[in-house]
Amino acid sequence: MQESQIAVVTGGAGFIGSHMTDRLLQAGYAVRVIDNLVGGRVSNLAHHARNPLLSLEECDICDLQPDSSIFKDVRYVFHFAGIGDIVPSIEQPIEYMATNVQGTVRTLEAARHGGRSTLQRFVYAASSSCYGLAATPTREDYPIQPQYPYALSKYQGEQAVLHWGQVYDLPVNSMRIFNAYGPRVRTTGAYGAVFGVFFRQKLAGKPYTVVGDGTQSRDFIYVTDVVEAFYMAAQSPHVGEIYNVGADNPQSILYLVELLGGNVNSGDVIFIPKRPGEPDCTWANAGKIIHQLGWQPKVTFETGVQTMLKDIENWRDAPLWDPDSIAKATATWFQHMDKK
Ligand SMILES: NC(=O)c1ccc[n+]([C@@H]2O[C@H](COP(=O)([O-])OP(=O)(O)OC[C@H]3O[C@@H](n4cnc5c(N)ncnc54)[C@H](O)[C@@H]3O)[C@@H](O)[C@H]2O)c1
Repeated sequence: MQESQIAVVTGGAGFIGSHMTDRLLQAGYAVRVIDNLVGGRVSNLAHHARNPLLSLEECDICDLQPDSSIFKDVRYVFHFAGIGDIVPSIEQPIEYMATNVQGTVRTLEAARHGGRSTLQRFVYAASSSCYGLAATPTREDYPIQPQYPYALSKYQGEQAVLHWGQVYDLPVNSMRIFNAYGPRVRTTGAYGAVFGVFFRQKLAGKPYTVVGDGTQSRDFIYVTDVVEAFYMAAQSPHVGEIYNVGADNPQSILYLVELLGGNVNSGDVIFIPKRPGEPDCTWANAGKIIHQLGWQPKVTFETGVQTMLKDIENWRDAPLWDPDSIAKATATWFQHMDKK
């Protein structure tokens, strides 16, 4: 029997990384997951527990050495390991730069050495946050204006990835993800992603805390569509490219409330102050990825939200946010970003 080709997924126990692992195992790859489990969970991969093609290496990407055996003979590297969320990045910028920039450099070096004669593609999980308060729909060549350290760190990680492509001929691509959502999205940790906040509030029968007037919109993209974009970026002949990964179809926060069964006119919503540095609209111009890779998002927002609702019980242990706790959790945000 032919031996399976090897793919490394950093951050593979996390939200998007675990779905990438599903996709690669389904395609017959031997998958080596690297994760230090700061945000990820072993349970995200539990359904593969008996699959001999999967291995989980519990380690920190910042400790990777160029001769790491995990990367030996690797064909594809999908680099998702990193730390997210805005407020903690404002409070602990050193940690963010260390993990998201230097950790990426360490991953690149391990891929370069271990995959010396085998590496076909290194695909990086970049963030649309690099665009800051951008004109929409936003194209890949629009100005870069990170508004907080998380955005800066992800952008510098991307610069490192492209630099390794330029200097060492590493076959790289960078995927600027907009707002990914779907099953296994993180339920714990800092105040952040709107899904976690609203699902827990729905379970508790508490009002949804809507920022601003709720008409702001986000280009939500379902996780299996994100993963397919990464898979195609690994298989296609295009290298050294940056691609937006968004649905090109922004959805307002009030519409999300409606899909969750909330009614603005019946007291189901509490409005909380708009935050500086956050765009009113994120909206990917997805023309490049559609034309070059032939990718198309398949899951509509309505279907994606309904699918997530089936797992709502997973949010039972998530933090329950209210206007007071959110005000406290976001104090640093207002302190550092409200300058204009
Ligand atoms: N979710 C989104 O909407 C979105 C948007 C843009 C970019 N991204 C990027 O995609 C990647 C995955 O995001 P996600 O939403 O799945 O987040 P996640 O927190 O669920 O996954 C990140 C994973 O990386 C692991 N990790 C963190 N630091 C590590 C380290 N030092 N060493 C090894 N593993 C480490 C975590 O344990 C976790 O499993 C991140 O790099 C993120 O910046 C995500």
